[in-house]
Amino acid sequence: MTRVYLDNNATTIVDPKVYDVMSPFFCQMYGNPNSLHSFGSETHPALRTAMNQLYKGLNASDDDDIIVTSCATESNNWVLKAVYFDKILNGDKNHIIISEVEHPAIYSTCKWLETLGVKVTYLPVNHDGIVEAHTVKDFITDKTALVSIMWANNETGAIFPIKEIAQICKEKNVLFHTDGVQAVGKIKVDVQDVEVDFLSFSAHKFHGPKGVGGLYIKNSQELSALLHGGEHMGGRRSGTLNVAGIVGMGLAMELANDAIEYENKEVRRLRDKLEDALLQIPKTFVVTSRDKRTPNTMLISIKGVEGEAMLWDLNKAGIAASTGSACASEDLEANPVLMAVGADKELAHTAIRLSLSRFTTEDEIDYTIDVFKKAVIRLREISGSYAE
Ligand SMILES: Cc1ncc(COP(=O)(O)O)c(C=O)c1O
Repeated sequence: MTRVYLDNNATTIVDPKVYDVMSPFFCQMYGNPNSLHSFGSETHPALRTAMNQLYKGLNASDDDDIIVTSCATESNNWVLKAVYFDKILNGDKNHIIISEVEHPAIYSTCKWLETLGVKVTYLPVNHDGIVEAHTVKDFITDKTALVSIMWANNETGAIFPIKEIAQICKEKNVLFHTDGVQAVGKIKVDVQDVEVDFLSFSAHKFHGPKGVGGLYIKNSQELSALLHGGEHMGGRRSGTLNVAGIVGMGLAMELANDAIEYENKEVRRLRDKLEDALLQIPKTFVVTSRDKRTPNTMLISIKGVEGEAMLWDLNKAGIAASTGSACASEDLEANPVLMAVGADKELAHTAIRLSLSRFTTEDEIDYTIDVFKKAVIRLREISGSYAE
C-alpha cells in the first residue's frame, strides 16, 4: 500500500545518515562520557563534533551555551520555571508575556505559573496568525520578567517577527526566549543576527532522533537549573548524557542547514503545488499568506468536511496528516490557532495540517492531491451540510 507521510511538523523520519552515525553508540561505544575509563573517553570526540555542529548550526559564539535537554518541552519548561524562580519568586518581577498561539509546552506551563501568582499576558495574533512586534512593546512593563514568543507556529507555519521582538526586548531590558522548534532546519536561524537570550529546539523535528533537544543560552547567562544531580553539562542540566542522541542531533542540524536552500525552493514548490490543487476545491481556505509561512506547512480548512473525518479518509489511503499539533490531536476541540486568527467555529473544526519535508516526493504529492479531492467529494456527500 502507498504510504505518504505529511505530518512532519509532528515529527520527522530520521535521516539514514543520522541513524548510521548514532548506531555505534548503543552496543559498541556505550560508555558513560563522565567515566574515567576508555569506554567513557572514547565517546568524547563524537560528542565534541556534535556540539560543534550545534554551535555552527545556530551560529552561536564560544561565549554562549548550548545545553542538551531531553526535548523542547523540557527546554521551554526550564526557561519559564527558572525565570519564575530567579526573577519572580526571588526578584521583584511578576509578569510574563507569551502569544495566544504558543505550543502547550509554553502555554500550559504559563497556565500553571498563573496558579502560583504570576501574571501572564497572552498576546493576540493578526489574521495571518502572527504576533505583531508593536503589541509586545505595548504590554511590557517594569514588572515583566520574560517575553516568550515562538519563531514559527507548528500549525500554520506562520513566521513571527522575531528579530524585531528581540530588539524591543533588548531595548526594554527584558529577557527574551523563543521556541524555535518549527524554525530550526526550515528557515535560517542565526543567533548572531537575531539576538535572543534563549532558544529551544528539538532534534526530531529536523530528521534527528526523538528524546533529545536543546536550549541555547546567550552569553552563558545565569538561569537556575531545572534538573539537579550529577553536575552534567557544567552543572546546568544533570543527567547522564544521551550520547547517541547528541551525536545524531549534531549531524541532523548540519544536514538540515545544508538543505535549507532545498527546503525553501523544492519543498516549497511541492507544498505550493499541493496547495494550488487543493484550493481549486470550492470553499477551501488556507491560513497565513504563503510568503509568511515556513516552506513545508499548510493548514487548510474545507467547508463541510469535519477535520477528523478527513484525517481518517486520508489515513485509509495511507496518507498521514494532522488536525492540529500532535500532542492535541486526539481531542476534538476546535483548532485553537484557527480560533485565534478569527475563523468561525465551524471552519476551525475542518482544519487539516499538511506538513512536508525534504524527503517528500513529487509522486507522493500527486497521489495526495488525487486522494484528497476524492475524499472531499465523498465526505461532503455524506455530511449533506455543504452547499456550494
Ligand atoms: C512549536 C513547538 N514547541 C515545542 C514542541 C515540543 O517539542 P518536543 O516534542 O521536543 O517536546 C513542539 C512539538 O510539537 C512544537 O511544535
